[in-house]
Amino acid sequence: MGHPIIAPSILAADFSKLHEALLALEKAKADWIHVDVMDGHFVPNLTIGPPVIKALRPCTELPFDVHLMIENPELSLNQYAEAGADRISVHAETCPHLHRTLTQIRELGCKSSVALNPSTPASAVENVLHLADMVLVMTVNPGFGGQSYIPEMTTKIRAIRDRANQLGLTELRIQVDGGISPATIAHAAKAGADTFVAGSAIFKSNDYAATIAQMKSKASP
Ligand code: DX5
Ligand code: ZN
Repeated sequence: MGHPIIAPSILAADFSKLHEALLALEKAKADWIHVDVMDGHFVPNLTIGPPVIKALRPCTELPFDVHLMIENPELSLNQYAEAGADRISVHAETCPHLHRTLTQIRELGCKSSVALNPSTPASAVENVLHLADMVLVMTVNPGFGGQSYIPEMTTKIRAIRDRANQLGLTELRIQVDGGISPATIAHAAKAGADTFVAGSAIFKSNDYAATIAQMKSKASP
């Protein structure tokens, strides 16, 4: 388990002012920028893709943590890597060849991650944990910001952390995404999550730096 990482999701930002949002997050000591890519098929919403990521890349040096909620992600991984993604999450539900897809992400020079919908069991990643730098446990059903944390996901986080420890994968990050706030972050952290996405909790607060600092301290062991 690593030190806590806070990755604000720009899905909750004003899309006409993304450059300013990145500068504000950098100043507020965010660790990574979480970019939610939705295709209107896998999830019922359509957001941004490689051209916007490429346009935002020069605005900040913070790592881009790109969450692909898209079907057939293997067909466009190279476009996301070229646009400036540092880390790429693909959903297990969209990848019949998950082993190959995670390998492909690493071959592109990015950190690999596999995401699980709330209804997908921890066992879906059992055979590929050694190929993943991170597992993303969705704590809401993907598609929209501003939903409530699903408390039952805590058991899944614990199961994945225990399995990673059994396998000696001490570097594996476990990310949680959806409904993460100063009120919920400690539940996920105690179960073994060390990487936290937050959209509305940060963007709706008056002071991004204070919210990020508060979340980091609540997530610290
Ligand atoms: C949901 C996205 C999340 C979302 C989180 O499909 O993957 O990253 O932006 O938003 P909040 O923090 O508002 O739940
Ligand atoms: Zn996300």
